[in-house]
Amino acid sequence: MRRARPPIEGEHLDRRDFFRVTGRLGLGSLLVAEAAAFADCGGSAGPATAPDASAAGLASTATRPSEIAGGPLVASVGSQTIWPGATTPVWTLGGSFPGPTIRVGRGAGFSARIENRLSEPTNVHWHGLAAPPEMDGHPSDLIAPGQSRDIAFPIVDRAGTYWYHPHPDGRTARQVYGGMAGFFIVEDDREVTLGLPSGEYDVPLALQDRRTSPDHSLTYAPGPMDLMAGVLGDAVLVNGKPDAVLPVAATLYRLRLLNGSNARVYRLAFADGRSFHVIGTDGGLLERPVPVTALDLGPGERVELLVDLARDPVGTSILLRSLAFTVPGGMGGGMMPGMGGGGASQGTALDVLRLRVERSGPAARVPEALVPFERLDTARAEGTQAFVLSMGMMPVAGAFTINGRSFDARRIDVRARRGRLELWQVRNASSEPHPFHVHATSFQVVSRTSGPLGAQDLGWKDTVLSWPGETVTLAIRFEQYAGLYVLHCHNLEHEDAGMMLNLEVS
Ligand code: C2O
Ligand code: CU
Ligand code: CU
Repeated sequence: MRRARPPIEGEHLDRRDFFRVTGRLGLGSLLVAEAAAFADCGGSAGPATAPDASAAGLASTATRPSEIAGGPLVASVGSQTIWPGATTPVWTLGGSFPGPTIRVGRGAGFSARIENRLSEPTNVHWHGLAAPPEMDGHPSDLIAPGQSRDIAFPIVDRAGTYWYHPHPDGRTARQVYGGMAGFFIVEDDREVTLGLPSGEYDVPLALQDRRTSPDHSLTYAPGPMDLMAGVLGDAVLVNGKPDAVLPVAATLYRLRLLNGSNARVYRLAFADGRSFHVIGTDGGLLERPVPVTALDLGPGERVELLVDLARDPVGTSILLRSLAFTVPGGMGGGMMPGMGGGGASQGTALDVLRLRVERSGPAARVPEALVPFERLDTARAEGTQAFVLSMGMMPVAGAFTINGRSFDARRIDVRARRGRLELWQVRNASSEPHPFHVHATSFQVVSRTSGPLGAQDLGWKDTVLSWPGETVTLAIRFEQYAGLYVLHCHNLEHEDAGMMLNLEVS
């Protein structure tokens, strides 16, 4: 913990409004009882298997964010309905939580004017895209309140599902938690020839867990345990909605999943155990669809799925969940009474999204092949770099390190030369999972000491999850720009606490 930060400001519902709202839903006493329990036990989560909110009529429809190709992107405080019947103060980029989806063709130019109407500095990072260093949202390159910044760079990356979010040093976690993040989708002509589900059958879904509180706020006030595990919620919001339902047709869907959570790792699977296909990872499509029944998705990672609903009768709901898991050698986080923790601990089973079949749909099939891509040849690697991710026993200054160092904007820690293929060995020497993220390029996962690669590891990546005790080997090559970037843990509490290094590409 390098700085103490106040919770997000904004109007809160007052007590009277709260009773009016909950009373209207006929749940006042239940919620009040829960609120009391919340206060008693320091805010631990409810039972892992919550009643089906959709059955109780409380479900919200997961809507698709609006789309833009560029233009103004204003950082401001606003309000939005997240929990039914309530208004929640949010921090937004582009006026909504999540922000508008930016959709641009590969080879096109992207331009935006970021305007900071917050009362603190911010900036925007284009996660996964190769952006020039002065436009990448380096943590010390800030836009002061009242100032704006013009962004313009060509889109050179493969078609895929990227995202954008603020990246100011020490403030990223709370700004993202407050609502600032959106999808950045790159398209190309090649992808169009594959006949993948498109238009309404191609759905970006941002998964972000949040803590439900009696005042329906997104107050960011992590306690000491939260800083160790990262801030974990008890409810998974999908495109900004809890207990989300996505109305669908009985056909094949392309779901683009983003783990935009501060710290939550999801082990995604359908409640009925059905298999689905992974077709893409952080940096675009795989060579062919890979059938799985479950996959892990760490903070910052994206995965694209094909989910076949053709045989699901109208009226049925298919539940996407995060399965329970044990963090190997881990501490779990959350649930620690008296330590200011809250939310459901890492690995708790959580409901994510219901796909509710409302009508029949067009015939569609899973393609045999997708897009061939260059396999980085590890035999030709010209060098190796090692990264050790560590944490102390308490969240004090300097406790969160990579290679023994906490982030210092004035020091260059890692150097890389463009065009040179390297192997990077990322060792997790702590008891928490760490999603390791590198700016400016994509890499390929070569191996994991814990076992075989997961389907989410098979393509181009910019973020890879490393479990406690594990070493993940990456093949990496920088191509596009020389300049100052960063690499860091994408658990946003860890990142803000210093688990980040300056990276100079020459
Ligand atoms: Cu999504 Cu450096 O971050
Ligand atoms: Cu990034
Ligand atoms: Cu971490």
